[in-house]
Amino acid sequence: NTVFADDIKEVIIDEEELKQRISELGEEITAGYEEDDDIVMLCILRGAVLFMADLAREIDLPVVFDFMDVSSYGASTESSGVVRIIKDMEENIEGRHLLIVEDIIDTGRTLKHVVDMLETRDPKSIKVVTLLDKPDRRVQKEIDADFNGFEIPDKFVVGYGLDFAEKYRNLSFIGVLKEKLYI
Ligand code: PRP
Ligand code: MN
Ligand code: MG
Repeated sequence: NTVFADDIKEVIIDEEELKQRISELGEEITAGYEEDDDIVMLCILRGAVLFMADLAREIDLPVVFDFMDVSSYGASTESSGVVRIIKDMEENIEGRHLLIVEDIIDTGRTLKHVVDMLETRDPKSIKVVTLLDKPDRRVQKEIDADFNGFEIPDKFVVGYGLDFAEKYRNLSFIGVLKEKLYI
């Protein structure tokens, strides 16, 4: 769709590139598990919802879906540093493989908080897949993904699930927002 086209400075990953890379990620993830593994795919709401939906269909293994609503940005381009769990996941993950699905790792604070919290529940393994990674912004240095779609520069991006003040999530591509809209 083109509803927000005037707000976007530059498309950095188009629909076709997303599709292609997500299909590759699906193969990598499929190869990273055994056929009879009990896998819980955990979508970190709300940003990862489109990625989760498309990625899950590229994974050739039975998976269980779960969702956790976590928020740290609010209506800002800078993370508040305070990670809030709005809604916890429902599945019991003890002894099961947990695959955390994120749209982006920026400072790493969200993921660090989630991983620390879920490790205490004794899953058999925790792996992380992120569509985007901004390594230059990392505050939590020890946090990294096992599967990573794209490394991107330090620009504020929206689309394909990613928002600015809850807008732009339904763009089919990843784009850079015009600065005048948030400065
Ligand atoms: C965004 C994004 C990641 C997180 C990454 O979520 O979806 O979850 O921030 O940033 P970090 O590495 O600096 O913690 P946000 O808090 O905006 O919530 P949302 O997914 O509902 O948009
Ligand atoms: Mn998020
Ligand atoms: Mg957000």
